[in-house]
Amino acid sequence: MPRHVTIIMDGNGRWARQQGQQRLFGHNAGVDSVRDCCEYAAETGIEYLSLFAFSSENWNRPEDEVSGLMKLMFKSVLGERETFRKNNIRFRIIGDRARLAPDLLAEIVKLEDETASNSRMTLIVMLSYSGKWDITQAASRYAADVAEAVRAGKEVPALDDNVFASYLSTAGIPDPDLMIRTSGEQRISNYMLWQCAYTEFYFTDVLWPDFRRTDFARALEAYCSRDRRYGKIK
Ligand code: FPP
Repeated sequence: MPRHVTIIMDGNGRWARQQGQQRLFGHNAGVDSVRDCCEYAAETGIEYLSLFAFSSENWNRPEDEVSGLMKLMFKSVLGERETFRKNNIRFRIIGDRARLAPDLLAEIVKLEDETASNSRMTLIVMLSYSGKWDITQAASRYAADVAEAVRAGKEVPALDDNVFASYLSTAGIPDPDLMIRTSGEQRISNYMLWQCAYTEFYFTDVLWPDFRRTDFARALEAYCSRDRRYGKIK
């Protein structure tokens, strides 16, 4: 069983168009898939479920879609307060917090604090996130620490994989074992570029609003049949 599953939830817009509806209708429907997949992940003993909900590039979508998506996430995540408490789920967001509206951020931080000691599963919503942003912010924080060490006459922190990973926004979270992408697209789209170095990828044509636990189970089954060698010989 994978410890960490990450999902690129794709295809809400196309699903809405198929129904003759606006894009936000698809995002709304996608919330039901989020709920079902979270429940299923917790039931199957997955420790970390991360969901790519809004990329750095998504800020360039039309204003009404951006504000609609933010409102929807605000409403659906904060509405699950009781579910998180009852099911012992820790909630976190990862991404560029500086770009989020202050009222949304304050509520999110409150929910993160309230659920911080929950231990059954961690649900991570990747919000205003991109892989290049993550690597860049890690590099600048490391550079700042080096500058500070030099200024203070202290030892400069040596750099290796593990040290660099500790500067990433996902520090302390195991790299994803499995990445699922819905809607038939087969690319990484600037997502967890460092963290997916040895991740198994699973692509499905199912559009996100149609993706349910049965589809999730199929992805887990495929994962279980993979032979992970990490560049070594078995
Ligand atoms: C990609 O579909 C989906 C998104 C950019 C948004 C995903 C957000 C949700 C499902 C809302 C709820 C989220 C949480 C965490 C409660 P797309 O719009 O790119 O679809 P398209 O490729 O068909 O246009």
